[in-house]
Amino acid sequence: MERQLEPELMDLVDEAEAYAAADFADVNIAFAERVLKLADNFKTARVVDLGCGPADIAIRIALARAEWRIDAVDASPAMLDIARRAVSSYHAARNLTLCLADAKNTGLSSGGYDVIFSNSLLHHLPDPLPLWTEMKRLARPGAVLFVRDLHRPATAQAARRIVGHYAGGETKLLQEEFYRSLLAAFTIDEVRGQLAEARLAHLAVETSSDRHLDVHGRVTA
Ligand SMILES: C[S@@+](CC[C@H](N)C(=O)[O-])C[C@H]1O[C@@H](n2cnc3c(N)ncnc32)[C@H](O)[C@@H]1O
Repeated sequence: MERQLEPELMDLVDEAEAYAAADFADVNIAFAERVLKLADNFKTARVVDLGCGPADIAIRIALARAEWRIDAVDASPAMLDIARRAVSSYHAARNLTLCLADAKNTGLSSGGYDVIFSNSLLHHLPDPLPLWTEMKRLARPGAVLFVRDLHRPATAQAARRIVGHYAGGETKLLQEEFYRSLLAAFTIDEVRGQLAEARLAHLAVETSSDRHLDVHGRVTA
């Protein structure tokens, strides 16, 4: 099935609220645990979350690692408003800074980050290459990189089945968003091609569930 683009930003208030209200606790906990494990050698670390959305993952990591300083980036003011409310209700998340910026051109310091992660941003981008390039720019030598995203099913029917199975109880709006996201997602081979183009071909790319793919490894230079 051909990729079908969806809007890059989640900048409609209704859309952002619907996304933030959905229960992603299990997948977010699993994501945070994976980051903590991949980066368990860092006692202190500068960390960046690209496309943080409501910042649920960034908050979980900030609470788990008080010595880490986390910058959470999103380009949607509506999403960052929700994130701001969530951060202020977790007083422990003082080591977390929200940044309104394009993840492809953050303006954050070059070579400034030990840990770079992103969940479910890649499929929003018409052209993902600038995101990989920005991740390389942000990374200190040896930085841990972890990206998780959806992978595109073979057919529209398969995408509908995944939506029914995992989001059957969610609102119609959220189900449609999920469906569009699956159609906009990349295949494993497409992601491998992007990494080769960005000179990040040494990173591991693997299927991590029936709907997710993971990219992980160290950014060397
Ligand atoms: C599906 S949400 C994922 C949010 C969060 N990472 C999570 O796992 O809950 C994708 C987020 O990426 C943001 N986004 C899309 N394109 C972006 C860009 N170029 N720069 C920064 N954020 C972007 C959207 O606004 C949205 O909040």
